[in-house]
Amino acid sequence: MSVTQQQVLDALARVKSPRGVALTNANVLSPIAVNDGKVFFSINVDAAEARAWEDVRATAERAVRALPGVSSAMIALTAERKPGTAPQAPRPGVAPAASHRPPHNPAGSPMARQAEIAGVAAVIAVASGKGGVGKSTTALNLALGLKALGLKVGLLDADIYGPSVPRLTGIREKPELNDERKMIPIERFGLSIMSIGFLVEEDTAMIWRGPMVMSAITQMLRDVAWGELDVLVVDMPPGTGDAQLTLAQNVPLKGAVIISTPQDLSLIDARRGLAMFRKVNVPVLGIIENMSYFQCPHCGTRSDIFGHGGARHEAERLGVPFLGEVPLHMAIRETSDAGNPVVVSEPDGPHAAIYRSIASEVRDQLRAAMTTA
Ligand SMILES: Nc1ncnc2c1ncn2[C@@H]1O[C@H](COP(=O)(O)OP(=O)(O)OP(=O)(O)O)[C@@H](O)[C@H]1O
Ligand SMILES: [Mg+2]
Repeated sequence: MSVTQQQVLDALARVKSPRGVALTNANVLSPIAVNDGKVFFSINVDAAEARAWEDVRATAERAVRALPGVSSAMIALTAERKPGTAPQAPRPGVAPAASHRPPHNPAGSPMARQAEIAGVAAVIAVASGKGGVGKSTTALNLALGLKALGLKVGLLDADIYGPSVPRLTGIREKPELNDERKMIPIERFGLSIMSIGFLVEEDTAMIWRGPMVMSAITQMLRDVAWGELDVLVVDMPPGTGDAQLTLAQNVPLKGAVIISTPQDLSLIDARRGLAMFRKVNVPVLGIIENMSYFQCPHCGTRSDIFGHGGARHEAERLGVPFLGEVPLHMAIRETSDAGNPVVVSEPDGPHAAIYRSIASEVRDQLRAAMTTA
């Protein structure tokens, strides 16, 4: 028996806003997505009232979870500034739904702003200034490379605009809930994996506003039973806008890895990414050049179609480590798109070796960042 949208609305009608109005009449609800027992929607309120609404969010979530036929409910509190209010420098004021923090946080380490995730030793972001540079492919193969080094690794697809981890891993099943009603990540290739793409259909159009992104991702970080992990690799949404900045600021990151292609344009974006992480005091572990050079699958000849070496040069110029280069190769594209990443499908091949070597660089940089932090 599956729950209907109307049943969800009926339950929400019994939940009151801070002003005592029924939630369904408070003009704050996003459309309600109900999919196979999974319920997902957001409550959109003014930033100034966010704190008062957190209890309402929690009550609403309990009410929906209590409905028969609901296997999980994810309700995001999204708080927006009224149009016209001046945007401020990065600030912790817009509190994500799942984690209220004291209003005054010491500046400095992002650790001070966001509690760590129990059991997870280090969260690292894989980011790119622009889309389509191979961020997700690299994040997954990097995670697999770290696992091959003997680490216990998780992968969080935080690219909620275009979650591609379901495709890259071939995962079709939906996460189940444990006794504490936390989602159990899907185990595949020895990684613990979570993606919003597991909860909604791939072609569901999702329009996210900045604070909503944070709220959804916070829940994926904290309402998931990650267990004991050495590293949790986060595939970030592409870009360096407000949403990404808030994310970089609110997720307890131990470091960030930037993916770039060698072209100038991509490098400019990579530079923005770097500046963004520096702004929020997240150590940049280094830059990976993806699609660095083209390797012909037939004759093995190499051509530098994008002007190979741009990212290495840029990394030197910016004083951040260069972590390695990944060629543009059919085998990487085909295995990725078939849900069978190259590090596991061709573990003895040259590409797997490249990703493992990059992973070992990343591990070393991460260790260094964690000992100096
Ligand atoms: N080194 C590579 N060689 C060949 N193909 C690659 C390589 N890296 C990524 N690709 C391919 O490029 C496409 C885009 O890669 P991917 O989805 O990883 O990029 P992305 O930066 O995460 O994109 P988005 O911004 O859409 O999230 C995919 O089809 C992928 O298989
Ligand atoms: Mg992607």
